[in-house]
Amino acid sequence: MKTKTFKWAILGPGKIAHKFAKGLAEVPGAELYAVASRSLAKAEEFAKEFNVPKFYGSYEDLVNDTEVDIVYVATPHVFHYEHTLLCLKHKKAVLCEKPFAMNKEQVNEMIQTAKKENVFLMEALWTYFLPHYQYVLELVKSEKFGKITGLEADFGFEAPYLPENRLFSKELGGGSLLDIGIYPVFTALTLLGKPDTISAKAEFCETGVDESCNIVFNYKNSVHARLFSTIKKMTPTIATITFEDATLTINRRFHEPTSVIILHNNRVEETISFDVNTNGYNFEAEHVQKMLAQERTESTVLSFDKSLELIGLLDDIREEIGLIY
Ligand SMILES: NC(=O)c1ccc[n+]([C@@H]2O[C@H](COP(=O)([O-])OP(=O)(O)OC[C@H]3O[C@@H](n4cnc5c(N)ncnc54)[C@H](OP(=O)(O)O)[C@@H]3O)[C@@H](O)[C@H]2O)c1
Repeated sequence: MKTKTFKWAILGPGKIAHKFAKGLAEVPGAELYAVASRSLAKAEEFAKEFNVPKFYGSYEDLVNDTEVDIVYVATPHVFHYEHTLLCLKHKKAVLCEKPFAMNKEQVNEMIQTAKKENVFLMEALWTYFLPHYQYVLELVKSEKFGKITGLEADFGFEAPYLPENRLFSKELGGGSLLDIGIYPVFTALTLLGKPDTISAKAEFCETGVDESCNIVFNYKNSVHARLFSTIKKMTPTIATITFEDATLTINRRFHEPTSVIILHNNRVEETISFDVNTNGYNFEAEHVQKMLAQERTESTVLSFDKSLELIGLLDDIREEIGLIY
């Protein structure tokens, strides 16, 4: 039986869109069919690079193409809400980059719109779909090494200070928390659940966005998740999960395809590799196609509720550090 080919479109061909296009090329049944930029020349350049048959000089033209099955929204955070709604209202399924939007109200409206229009919507939190992360989730669920007693996760890199750049610009939703702090926060949420209380402190740069953010999630039985993000310096970018009977480290960089080390309490150490030969973006895309083939409007893995919980935590942390966009 011939499997369906899904026609993908990219909206906003920036840095991540290039990586995603490479990952998508590894997905059976995926065709990168169209790309849209605010500049026709840029869309054409991207189309040439990735052999994309259709290119558009406006996002509106893209969503009016009846051939498109699913749009990957890859614009800066502040536009996720607007561009996702644009796609959904034109009956296009959407995979939207993280953070899903700027706050819980926006995410909620996106979800309600997807439900109303009866089209698929998912946040592109690719880490969730990576084999090493699925392995860790299973390990936690099975309690093979007992319960989690602590978690530490960091994500840091040194970005050159360019006030206009989306990483530093307040208008574009800049700062470390929403860009990379989301990964440690997501790790805590998926491994430990919602915390009972949160404390957080941030350092700000001149543009008013957080250059570093220190977060502690407190859970019952004195379990804490210590989370850190920064765009000021390189940090190990690992996640260490302490269980009752072992300590598991997700190696650098923990949010992308990597290996894990398990240090058992009897001091035996083992490294587990996962044989991933792609850049990793193929896994979320494969999942989306599976959901579309089943005519679902919501992912069975990354649910609407999970995305709402995540943005709710980011809202709470922003309130704690006093970061208002
Ligand atoms: N999953 C991951 O691993 C990962 C990694 C990096 C980033 N991301 C996410 O992906 C999103 C995009 O990040 P990026 O690093 O790819 O950004 P980027 O390189 O700046 O690209 C963003 C694209 O959005 C479009 N855009 C539309 N309005 C814009 C505006 N007013 N200013 C700037 N760009 C505008 C631009 O495309 P046109 O002008 O051509 O239309 C631009 O190429 C962010 O939300 C980020 O969190 C995810």
